[in-house]
Amino acid sequence: MFIDQGFMRKGEPERLIKLFLEQFHIPVEYVNARQRFLAQIAGVTDPEEKRKRIGHEFISVFEEESKRLGPFDYLAQGTLYPDVIESADTNVDPQTGERVAVKIKSHHNVGGLPKDLRFKLVEPLRKLFKDEVRNVGRSIGLPDEIVRRQPFPGPGLAIRIIGEVTDERLNILRDADLIVRQEINRCGMYHELWQAFAVLLPVRSVGVMGDQRTYAYPVVLRFVKSEDGMTADWARVPYDLLETIANRIVNEVRGVNRVVYDITSKPPGTIEWE
Ligand code: XMP
Repeated sequence: MFIDQGFMRKGEPERLIKLFLEQFHIPVEYVNARQRFLAQIAGVTDPEEKRKRIGHEFISVFEEESKRLGPFDYLAQGTLYPDVIESADTNVDPQTGERVAVKIKSHHNVGGLPKDLRFKLVEPLRKLFKDEVRNVGRSIGLPDEIVRRQPFPGPGLAIRIIGEVTDERLNILRDADLIVRQEINRCGMYHELWQAFAVLLPVRSVGVMGDQRTYAYPVVLRFVKSEDGMTADWARVPYDLLETIANRIVNEVRGVNRVVYDITSKPPGTIEWE
């Protein structure tokens, strides 16, 4: 079952279904739940609240659909070890052995889940870091396209739109994000970067197009290098690439008049903005 929350990148739902059908010969039951998810987070600006609502809605849709298609006893998730660490309310300090409060964010698939789950969770990758998961993938013969794919968070574009998520903002971000992907692929840097994506900020600034004043959103480019996602360096990419992406976004995406580049590493920043 593939639950489309409406927060995926342009063309990704179609691509995923095709991949499962053609490469794995697994028929996928497509569930369009876009409006439900959007309604759940309408007006919500707090990142933790957004993740929790998305996590809960995911389980509700899964429960409903499993009545129709099931019954199912298990829900399999691709939870990784960093999701678990970052979602934990407390962790043990390796030096003192004391429990310390460290929650960074409730990853939707861990801290975002309801307490009263009616399924058994199956999470075979829960103890592994991404590089280890990639090794597992290779060893069982998964195609390179899957194994070397850049990570994409479960709540998707909903946590790359800072503040309120609306249809208009999702469309703007999808278009900007597509340009980022096209240009990163064109210059052959896709596999050099842990992630390269766009973030939409909920503020507007003044600009000028032709002889017209504009008042529109800024887009942030977030390109990082990392081994496992726990720490990351902002990527020193060529200025020409940044220029091409910025020009294309401002010229081709209505509603954006400024592009900025994030030069914060992790820590102190996180990779995502929420
Ligand atoms: P941060 O932003 O914490 O991200 O530096 C570390 C890695 O985790 C991904 N990420 C998520 N993945 N659900 C996910 O499945 C989430 O809620 C989530 N938040 C962050 C992020 O894309 C990066 O690769």
